[in-house]
Amino acid sequence: MTGVKALSITQRKSFKLTILDFPEPKLGPGEFLIENVAVAQNPVDWKQVLYDTGIPQLPWTNGADVAGTIVKVGPNVKGFAVGDRVLSFLSRQTARHGAYQTHSISSADRTVKVPNNYTFEQASTVPLGYVTAGASLVATLGVSLLTTSDLRGADRRVTGKPLLVWGGSSSVGAFAVQLGKLAGYTVISTASPANHEYVRSLGASEVFDYHSPDVVANIRAAAGPNLSLVFDAISENGSLEASAAAITASKGVVASVLGAVKSPLPHVKIIASGARLAYEQPDVGKKIFEALQGLLDRGELIPNPVTIMSGGLNGVEAGWELGRTHAISGEKLVYRMADTVF
Ligand SMILES: NC(=O)c1ccc[n+]([C@@H]2O[C@H](COP(=O)([O-])OP(=O)(O)OC[C@H]3O[C@@H](n4cnc5c(N)ncnc54)[C@H](OP(=O)(O)O)[C@@H]3O)[C@@H](O)[C@H]2O)c1
Repeated sequence: MTGVKALSITQRKSFKLTILDFPEPKLGPGEFLIENVAVAQNPVDWKQVLYDTGIPQLPWTNGADVAGTIVKVGPNVKGFAVGDRVLSFLSRQTARHGAYQTHSISSADRTVKVPNNYTFEQASTVPLGYVTAGASLVATLGVSLLTTSDLRGADRRVTGKPLLVWGGSSSVGAFAVQLGKLAGYTVISTASPANHEYVRSLGASEVFDYHSPDVVANIRAAAGPNLSLVFDAISENGSLEASAAAITASKGVVASVLGAVKSPLPHVKIIASGARLAYEQPDVGKKIFEALQGLLDRGELIPNPVTIMSGGLNGVEAGWELGRTHAISGEKLVYRMADTVF
């Protein structure tokens, strides 16, 4: 390779992005270089610019989600080799560990192999959404995910307990619905009516319109008296309060993806959750990545519906604008490196 072409933030709080050239990055112990085929967008990408956070220096390249092929391996890498098809949840510790570029640095604890029955575009939709849902369910709500070793010789577990996933059509929520269902819960969710069938197809038993004034009453009636666990994949615009009010058990927990607020109800805890838990609690990270590899290998994980943005990296400014204006619904915006004009 001759170097990296990176979509770069060059001015704070500016949504004007520029493609810049950088030399081939040096790999540290345990690191490898991925040639990106597809990059997926997350809200944090444009929020970092809007709130000027998580951008330690300029020029900077952000983004967490890539799928592609390993083209170079550093010292002490175990389990991955040149030529592997992978998806990776990037650390963003330097600009070269970000996503919106031709090549990204990552490591084994953030990466899984992608079987041929998933396209790179589909695979790119998985990392941050899956890790956020998985880490929150396991570390905050105490859900136990089925790993490959759990499944060996065992039947599917059915707890019969209800789990509410607020915002099941969001990228994060879509993975939470699937993981909850696979862990044996009866999943109840919320979404706009246009996405109800989609969220049911992910494994939700019942889906309610969050715009309805009756949404909390409908959830409580559907859940019965034992709803104690809520994963709120939205955590804004009143969803945390509604999630807390939906709890029917004598005690309950709401996992929030946007930080904790004071619970309006004494018997309900609202706990800040998120992808960081996969690294703050390495046993949790290990468990959810093992579960992810198994789900992909068995073809069981449903990726987010892919919307390909035209122009590859040249289309990212338009995609971030769609994010900022809340115009993304039940889909993941994906950029193909091959569509980029450099
Ligand atoms: N803490 C973390 O580690 C972490 C990680 C990832 C994401 N997040 C945060 O989690 C949130 C979701 O991220 P994402 O990537 O999943 O977003 P996304 O897919 O872009 O979210 C769009 C979806 O949100 C749904 N939605 C919006 N408002 C809603 C509400 N009040 N109730 C229910 N559903 C609602 C929409 O549903 P309809 O179209 O059906 O109406 C739409 O499908 C963002 O705020 C993001 O910053 C946090």
